[in-house]
Amino acid sequence: MKIGNSSFITSAVKYEQYPEIIPPEFAFVGRSNVGKSTLLNMLINRKSLAKTSSRPGKTQLINFFNIDDKITFVDLPGYGYAKVSKAQKATWGTIIETYLTKRENLLEVFQLVDLRHKPTKEDKEMYNWIKEYGFNGIIIGTKADKLSKGQLSKNVFMIKKELGMSKEDVLVPVSAMNRAGKYDVWEVINEILEV
Ligand code: GTP
Ligand code: MG
Repeated sequence: MKIGNSSFITSAVKYEQYPEIIPPEFAFVGRSNVGKSTLLNMLINRKSLAKTSSRPGKTQLINFFNIDDKITFVDLPGYGYAKVSKAQKATWGTIIETYLTKRENLLEVFQLVDLRHKPTKEDKEMYNWIKEYGFNGIIIGTKADKLSKGQLSKNVFMIKKELGMSKEDVLVPVSAMNRAGKYDVWEVINEILEV
């Protein structure tokens, strides 16, 4: 897909605030600071359409982006951010669950995990949740630039195992530093759109 013009549509928390059902939608979810907003910008060749930060917890709302009037990307609020209360965590759960179950044009959920680390309990729960809701759950491993080639393949194996992924399940390593994996992610998106 050639990306012409991308724009921010709106932020939402509640279902009533979601934009009208528009083109097919793809959502990005994962731990706070894993690189969701950065990946989104990389995919659409924009520096900062989605706001990024070295401080975790930057994205706290559901942010909708119109990609060339063809698809919609959704930057979901990150989880696992230590400095939140129990009540905030519960709210986060409701926000995500409502989104995943009610959004009719949602085609696929991409879950990002940091390639350097073992998936957390929350990563595993999220992955199982996505599958339970009937999505394939494509895993995107971020920050590949921080690992050597050898370490990268070791960690990919370890992450797949920890998440209980099968041979057919997809894990795409990416790096926003050197743009590695950008076309692999687009290939996955295009394949889903063709079905
Ligand atoms: P929240 O909005 O808090 O949920 O975080 P997020 O997942 O959107 O993370 P964000 O994209 O803001 O990135 C967090 C930090 O990681 C930033 O400092 C990015 O520059 C950095 N980062 C993201 N992707 C990569 C990558 O592929 N390689 C490296 N080296 N750094 C990255
Ligand atoms: Mg973000």
